Amino acid sequence: MNENLRALLYLLAAVAFIVGLKRLSSPRTARAGNIIGALGMLLAVVVTLIGTGVSWWVVAAGIAAGAAVGTAAALRVKMTAMPQMVALFNGFGGLASALVAGAEYLRSDPAALPIETITSMVLSVVIGAVTFTGSVIAFAKLQEILGGAPLTYRGQRPVNLAVAATIIGLGAWAVATSLALPFWVAGAVALGLGVLIVLPIGGADMPVVITLLNSLSGLAAAATGFVISNSALIIAGALVGASGVILTNLMCRAMNRSLGHVLFGAFGGTVAVAAGAAGSARATSADDVAIALAYSSQVMVVPGYGLAVAQAQHALRALTADLERRGVRVVYGIHPVAGRMPGHMNVLLAEVDVPYDQLLDLEQSNAVMDRTDVVLVVGANDVVNPAARDDRTSPIYGMPIIEVDRARSTVVIKRSLASGFAGIDNPLFYKDGTAMLFADAKKALTDLLGAMALV
Ligand code: TAP
Repeated sequence: MNENLRALLYLLAAVAFIVGLKRLSSPRTARAGNIIGALGMLLAVVVTLIGTGVSWWVVAAGIAAGAAVGTAAALRVKMTAMPQMVALFNGFGGLASALVAGAEYLRSDPAALPIETITSMVLSVVIGAVTFTGSVIAFAKLQEILGGAPLTYRGQRPVNLAVAATIIGLGAWAVATSLALPFWVAGAVALGLGVLIVLPIGGADMPVVITLLNSLSGLAAAATGFVISNSALIIAGALVGASGVILTNLMCRAMNRSLGHVLFGAFGGTVAVAAGAAGSARATSADDVAIALAYSSQVMVVPGYGLAVAQAQHALRALTADLERRGVRVVYGIHPVAGRMPGHMNVLLAEVDVPYDQLLDLEQSNAVMDRTDVVLVVGANDVVNPAARDDRTSPIYGMPIIEVDRARSTVVIKRSLASGFAGIDNPLFYKDGTAMLFADAKKALTDLLGAMALV
């Protein structure tokens, strides 16, 4: 293929990646963005393969095998297990980059390579290896194959720093001398570093680690792009790397954690407080809540992880549609880390066609809180925990929350007083303005709709 034409098509693919990413920023355009990005990647792959003399049969067999595994996994995975799947995908992305760079190293004469190529090879193998094992450990923790709590030991930080310094030393040695031994040993030690970095992280910090690993997988791909001189891979890798960093930063801010705290703070697991320790909560019934809802002028629904577990989105939509028919204004308060993955609640609500203009972000939700008659908290816990605002000793102190306790009244739907992901008690449950509707979210919402018919 003519090199100018190839460069033009790569440019087209890069434009598709960027337009696709841009469209991912709103639920309204996200589906189209996904397709545009995927088409860009298809174009980049085809353009790369043309003229390389590669056997199309081998490529087709690889695509068929990968597509079969990917499709089966994507169809079978539960929405609540998405973070684990994303972790695995990141890990395999990192492994692929490391293997390509390693293969290029093997088939070339390292002494004859320019310094930038061998540096890219080292970076690709090292970052790819850290991403792979780090992601496998993250997967094992989220899948509860390993305990989700942080695994810590004395001197962990100095050990990790020493291992990282060893890798840098080996990498520099490999670049300076073109010797194979430090090159491969750097890769092997990097496999160990991935394990060491992720083991001490646990609890609510895991999603941040996943986005960070996602970013690393992009950087490994970009480095591999330099190794094989492929501009589409460099651009795609850089976009993944940059967007992963932005998402990591947004999530850190949403949880009021610095990246340093996430990586070295060993949050979670050790902070659990016995549920119910703070006093007694007031239980209510579907009939009472139905009356309060029907006579409200504004109701805010604050969904959380329990909505996803109960798969109660359809029951929720039926209830809110009924309220709207009665002239009640319904809005949804969406916390950026509600659920178990970024955008989790948006996906559930989009599935049942909740109008986008009814979705309020954290700031918008808090701005209209004083004017809200009833807040219906559905399976959310940490994201509405006032201890994050009021209790300096709380492990989540400083995390922005949806301040549902400022509404005229609050109804919390969950099965018990049990804690949420962060493993800490929630004083909201014991406040005067709060009533607890103890039930599975789907059952509670269905009962509420039934009770509304009698109001
Ligand atoms: P959580 O604080 O985890 O609380 C969820 C609550 O749902 C639980 O307390 C549970 O109480 C209830 N629940 C579970 N199954 C239920 C069911 N079938 N019906 C009704 N309720 C049910 O959830 P959240 O408020 O959404 O906060 C998210 C947490 O996860 C934060 O700590 C966040 O940092 C963390 N996290 C977020 C992400 C992202 S990116 N979104 C990823 C990983 C972790 P019962 O057992 O009493 O029912």
